[in-house]
Amino acid sequence: MPMSDREIHDTPTSAPHDGPSRRGVVLGLLATTGSAVGLCATSGCSKKKEPEEHPEVRAGSEPKPGAKLLPIDKIPAEGTIIQEAGIVVLGNPHDGFRAFSAYCTHQGCMLSDISSDALNCPCHGSRFDLTTGEPLSGPARKPLPRVKVRVAGEHVVIE
Ligand code: FES
Repeated sequence: MPMSDREIHDTPTSAPHDGPSRRGVVLGLLATTGSAVGLCATSGCSKKKEPEEHPEVRAGSEPKPGAKLLPIDKIPAEGTIIQEAGIVVLGNPHDGFRAFSAYCTHQGCMLSDISSDALNCPCHGSRFDLTTGEPLSGPARKPLPRVKVRVAGEHVVIE
């Protein structure tokens, strides 16, 4: 049964960097361990956005089926990295939305930006295909895990 907004917002929160591997376990999406992510967090390779930018997903909360990621009208044409959720959302209302884990499959750093042709990891330069999540260059060999999303009302939500 999908979580309501209230359930998502009432989920106990913890520090934003309390362990992407925890999210990975819950989401069942990540193939890497959190050790490299911790290294990234301390080396400043991932720019952290303030949770208020995406109020539907709170830092430390773990999106569950039905959890709202963003209002459709807040998703820019080039896509967006929702750091609080560890998810990249791409696409548009006409062609549909797709999403991937925002954690690099090399050593788990948070992807930093979306360029015209790739999702980019700041740690060792891996680049991932915008459509498939397949690695294009850099040390990553595995594709970004796909996150199933759908449109529900005015929001993109976890399926
Ligand atoms: S962690 Fe992304 S390229 Fe190494």
